[in-house]
Amino acid sequence: MDLGTAEQAAITSGGDFWHTAPVESAGIPAVTVTDGPHGVRMQAGDGDLLAGVPATCFPPAVASASTWDPELLRRMGEALGDECRAQDVAVLLGPGVNLKRTPLGGRNFEYFSEDPILTGVLATEWVRGLQSRGVGASLKHFAVNSQETERMRISADVDERTLREIYLRAFQRVVTKAQPWTVMCAYNRINGVYASENHWLLTEVLRGEWGFEGLVVSDWGAVVDRVRAVAAGLDLTMPGPDADGDAALVAAVESGDLDPDLLRRSAERVREMIVKAGKRPAGGYDAEAHHALAREIAGRAIVLLKNDGDLLPLGSPATLAVIGEFARTPRYQGGGSSQITPTRLDDALTEITAAAGGEVRFAAGYTVAGDADEGLLAEAVAVAKAADVAVVFVGSVHETEGADRTSIDLPATQVTLIERVAAANPRTVVVLSNGAVVATRPWDRKVPALVEGWLLGQAAGSALADVLFGRVNPSGRLAETIPVKLADHPSHLDFPGEHGHVRYGEGLHIGYRGFDAREQEVAYPFGFGLSYTTFGYGAARATATATGVEVRVPVTNTGARDGREVVQVYVNLPGSRVRRAPRELKAFASVPIAAGETADVVLTVDRDDLAYWDVRLGRWIVEGGEYLIEVGASSRDVRASVTVHVPGDPDRVPLTTESSVGEWFADPRGAEVLGAAFAEAAGDGPLPAMTEEVLMMLASLPLARLAAFPGSPLSAGDLEKLVAAANY
Ligand code: BGC
Repeated sequence: MDLGTAEQAAITSGGDFWHTAPVESAGIPAVTVTDGPHGVRMQAGDGDLLAGVPATCFPPAVASASTWDPELLRRMGEALGDECRAQDVAVLLGPGVNLKRTPLGGRNFEYFSEDPILTGVLATEWVRGLQSRGVGASLKHFAVNSQETERMRISADVDERTLREIYLRAFQRVVTKAQPWTVMCAYNRINGVYASENHWLLTEVLRGEWGFEGLVVSDWGAVVDRVRAVAAGLDLTMPGPDADGDAALVAAVESGDLDPDLLRRSAERVREMIVKAGKRPAGGYDAEAHHALAREIAGRAIVLLKNDGDLLPLGSPATLAVIGEFARTPRYQGGGSSQITPTRLDDALTEITAAAGGEVRFAAGYTVAGDADEGLLAEAVAVAKAADVAVVFVGSVHETEGADRTSIDLPATQVTLIERVAAANPRTVVVLSNGAVVATRPWDRKVPALVEGWLLGQAAGSALADVLFGRVNPSGRLAETIPVKLADHPSHLDFPGEHGHVRYGEGLHIGYRGFDAREQEVAYPFGFGLSYTTFGYGAARATATATGVEVRVPVTNTGARDGREVVQVYVNLPGSRVRRAPRELKAFASVPIAAGETADVVLTVDRDDLAYWDVRLGRWIVEGGEYLIEVGASSRDVRASVTVHVPGDPDRVPLTTESSVGEWFADPRGAEVLGAAFAEAAGDGPLPAMTEEVLMMLASLPLARLAAFPGSPLSAGDLEKLVAAANY
């Protein structure tokens, strides 16, 4: 049954906070949409919007991304889909694929990485897993929502190459490879235009270029003007109801200000999503099995940053000091809309006590609020001194949606704690719990072992014990660079912006791209992580195929323990015509390799991922040439390299009167035409002024400007003929 204009308007805003609006006359029910992304947060009662009924709190994206394992993300998506079915949820609001532009990002814990390929590959599998259960994803926040400061008003000012190659790339990958049911538009503006009113973004790029078939939903409260939003391509405004906006839509259709087809299509997309959701079977889930999966993913997410003298794994120390309130009161997720009420919560102190052979003594060292307390510090030092090994749990204190951090430093009292414990006991291990990177210099120099434990979800404690005692051999890798200090970061001078604008001044050089381009020291590089075993790489081979480049490399587990290596492929095109970062991640694989065994690892670089965005042509171009393929264990640990010839895309830029003399001569047809024109002007002898040096000097002159000079070999009347001949 066709919906009338008023019904179309009503169904394109929410029925309440977490439901679409039903249209009873047309038999359209309301469906539930809820957060996301690392658990299902169904609002428990009427009071608190963010208090959910218990659900598995899987590791937030900061941790799941550190697994570098798409298969784990797919399994997490499937499990989330099952929990959605059990709670009658139609769409889960995730994944968040904004890039971590700055370590101060308040929501970095909800995002995957500073790299678009790593983000895109992992999020694609998460979406595939979720949607395989008949539950929709909501790819968010589209786009360039990389900060919380002024998030509802700020304009992210980004040049087009950077937008395309960095900030939109993960969205593009997920849309084209997994067709999420919905895409959630961001709060912020992009180059001055609200995402919710951005026709270029929501219609030309998302639907026109990428072929998105689903529904565009607003972030909660992101719509400023319903009519402008629908005209731009937004379908569903959340939350609702929004009687004024509905009336404005009806009035705009009646007055002819809004094309009625646009509103009709948006309403149709909402209806299609509801119909699709109606097909998912009800179901239950096994909470214990999901907890076990949360533990598996968390264990794989932990990154071993330092392990001098093989202090880890712990073995069975006679006395073990467990220090730090976070061992007893875990920090396992961030604040805001993604906050989950877990089905259960493992703490490290209990799990370590169960795993340790000998005596375990605990000292809090600091309060949860991070307050300094000399008594607690002194007690911790005494406990550490009397133990064979001390494990110190520290981490960030405030991390939440809606606010960026002001520093990457640990609370001062925690740094004091680390330094005093390390002085009391040289066998000290530090375990970090944080949603975005924290500075590790200079205190990490004083401890032999450092474990980056992120925010690991409800199984944080057991997963940390698994790694500390070697039941899991660590294989997590940094999905973001840990800088030596905040001021080194590529984003530093252009964050968080002012007066409503933040300029993405570092351009393409986000994260490791910027550190590498400026040859800067980092504390721990992108892609880095140690293992309890070691890996050796053989020679790499690379073959260009029609669809990309296939890279093969033998990797041997040269140690005594079974383990996993995350093999990474970085690409560069030396001498490229466009600016490129020295090293860009293009493929990776997490490979289990038994002790003493060799795996022949095959990695595929998609041809599309080699492309740069050509602003002159307005399209992606694979530049032909000899590509340098570097295979490594991190972005700064290249183990094998090889070059491969990749044929280029047709990329001739038409010559115009604004093209320079140099550009004319660089183009074979242009050189022929312009050369002939110069020769003709010279008559019998060479033009006295047209020596090679003069030509070099003239190279930057646009042709029309050359023609305007007195005594020029060209006249204004020649120009159009030359252009026609050159572009023939
Ligand atoms: C957040 C979204 C979230 C939505 C619904 C917004 O404030 O930015 O990520 O999905 O609220 O809770």
